[in-house]
Amino acid sequence: MGPAKDMEHVTIGLIGLGTVGTGVARILTEHADRIARRAGKRVRWKWAVVRDPAKIRDVKLDGVRVTTDTARLIDDPEVEIVVEAMGGIDPALNIVLDCLAAGKHVVTANKALLAEHGPQIFAQARAAGRAVAFEASVGGGIPIIQALGVALAANQVQNLAAILNGTCNYILTKMMHEGLAYADALAQAQELGYAEADPTLDVDGTDTAHKLAILTQLAFQATVKTGDIPRQGIDRLQLADLKYAGELGHAVKLLALAKFTTAGLELRVAPTLVKRGTPLAEVRGPYNAIRVVGDAVGDTFFYGRGAGMMPTASAVVGDLIDVMTGRAILSSLVLDLWAEPAHTVARTPPHQIKSHYYLRFTIADSPGVLAKLARILGEHGISIASVIQHDTGDDAPDNSAVPLVIMTHLAVEAEIHAALGEIDQLDVVRPPSVCLGVED
Ligand code: NAP
Ligand code: HSE
Repeated sequence: MGPAKDMEHVTIGLIGLGTVGTGVARILTEHADRIARRAGKRVRWKWAVVRDPAKIRDVKLDGVRVTTDTARLIDDPEVEIVVEAMGGIDPALNIVLDCLAAGKHVVTANKALLAEHGPQIFAQARAAGRAVAFEASVGGGIPIIQALGVALAANQVQNLAAILNGTCNYILTKMMHEGLAYADALAQAQELGYAEADPTLDVDGTDTAHKLAILTQLAFQATVKTGDIPRQGIDRLQLADLKYAGELGHAVKLLALAKFTTAGLELRVAPTLVKRGTPLAEVRGPYNAIRVVGDAVGDTFFYGRGAGMMPTASAVVGDLIDVMTGRAILSSLVLDLWAEPAHTVARTPPHQIKSHYYLRFTIADSPGVLAKLARILGEHGISIASVIQHDTGDDAPDNSAVPLVIMTHLAVEAEIHAALGEIDQLDVVRPPSVCLGVED
């Protein structure tokens, strides 16, 4: 038997009926009784705001008022909760601020908005005594925001390594395991609803940096600007490096990395070699994963679909239920998120960052070249762990260009960059050389 039809209801508005909004609408319309049981109240979906009201929608809109005018929803005193699923910063920022000022709770999947304007949004939420819930902003359907904010709250997080962009992981998987070209894999990810409206944000690492900034807020109570996170995407990655990494027993993943050390907080987003057989290396397709090490709990690992309609909608509707029950406002007030400037944490300078590195040089296939490179690496205190150079055969012309791949022992990042700068000046080397970090 379902919940009583006449039970108390909460009126909501949904801004955006694209990939995420459609998923949310489907859960609300197809599983209304289930949501009512879990929330203790019924959802009354009154408004849908879209850009193009004439577009055919793949969801039932019975009784829902469709408009392009957000003010109608903001000015409607019946609306208690607004789900923002439109994306972007402008006009989303002003809409969210206006919703809070009008006394509405906000549920959002918009990581760009929170990463860039978290302090302003949460200051407004506190002033208005309203909740901003954002589980869907990181990791799609994986409940990592709840985990860091609530279940792991007893810990000092020491280390976090994560695959946070479904589009990039999908592209890397398709290139590596199915031989698909980069552009074709990206087109598929867009078709499947994984990519951002502007997919540059996915492939250049910005989306991952947005998500890392949000996780940094929860894990370390540190407010960082996305622009301050060193980042590199997969857009300039070459298939050759995926293959050499495979020969060396590694997969290449776009990782978000955060390490809390005595020297400070080390943050970065970069394509990184991860040893095959470890959980992060085996994450494929649009799946995301987050490894969190806490001082009390030790190692934890969170895994699931990181992008796409229904996994993201699962997180949004979970937040909606949390707001309806009153749990969200309680944790919002206690967590005191983005309360700048008190919690800003110093970041580790690059000369103190150490890692193993994968280096690929394109060199002239002639005697003494390896020795020249090894000498420069040695002068910078960089020790070689292994080398790959495939035999080009005795018939190859003198000085033909060949790849030389080197894995290093632990080395200081600043020394690696200095050494590559010198090596790329050699007349036997065709720049630019490739450098990728290796995650243990
Ligand atoms: P989308 O498919 O592009 O949908 C955007 C929706 O917002 C569309 O319905 C669009 O209307 C509407 N919209 C956009 N600008 C508007 C404006 N100025 N006024 C009124 N309506 C407007 O985007 P999405 O993939 O669902 O993503 C939405 C948000 O969720 C973004 O913040 C994204 O980063 C985040 N997110 C997405 C995923 C995912 O897997 N896609 C996962 C997690 C988080 P029309 O339909 O009329 O064009
Ligand atoms: N474009 C994002 C991704 C959506 O591919 O991960 C989920 O945040």
